[in-house]
Amino acid sequence: MHLHKFEKVWLIFGTGSLLLFLLVIGVGAFYKGTHPSSHLETIDLKNIESHEAFQPDNLGVTQVKEDQYIVNFVASAFNYDFGVDDNGKPLKKIRIPKGSTVLFQATTKDVIHGYQVAGTNVNMMLEPGYISRYETVMDETGEFTIVCNEYCGLGHHQMFASVEVYE
Ligand code: CUA
Repeated sequence: MHLHKFEKVWLIFGTGSLLLFLLVIGVGAFYKGTHPSSHLETIDLKNIESHEAFQPDNLGVTQVKEDQYIVNFVASAFNYDFGVDDNGKPLKKIRIPKGSTVLFQATTKDVIHGYQVAGTNVNMMLEPGYISRYETVMDETGEFTIVCNEYCGLGHHQMFASVEVYE
């Protein structure tokens, strides 16, 4: 079979690029185990409470320093569990003083959920088996709606909560 010279060149170039691409993906995914940077820590999906952060008493807002807070929560269809309020009712609104540095730390019990605090830069994907973290400074007062932005089932649109940043 006779191939035109340019045809040969492009065939080699095409095959070469494909192999290089597969090599890069392969090395990245399987050899180096590359994951999105927010999912560095894994968690046992069947035993979330084995992790200190997700034990019932540690859910919700915890002050760690004068203007530093940690917010632990567990997502599940179709709810964010921030623990309970003073009356023992599930907390639907968390409150943070303005200007605080907040570390959100979360995981999910079932499927992939989102965690977006509308109007801020907080936007995480919560994946089963991983702990997601995001740190930010809440420097605007107001009430911000927390929404799930990953379709997670029939109740997806009912999955919300809120953050109040107060003066
Ligand atoms: Cu949870 Cu959509």
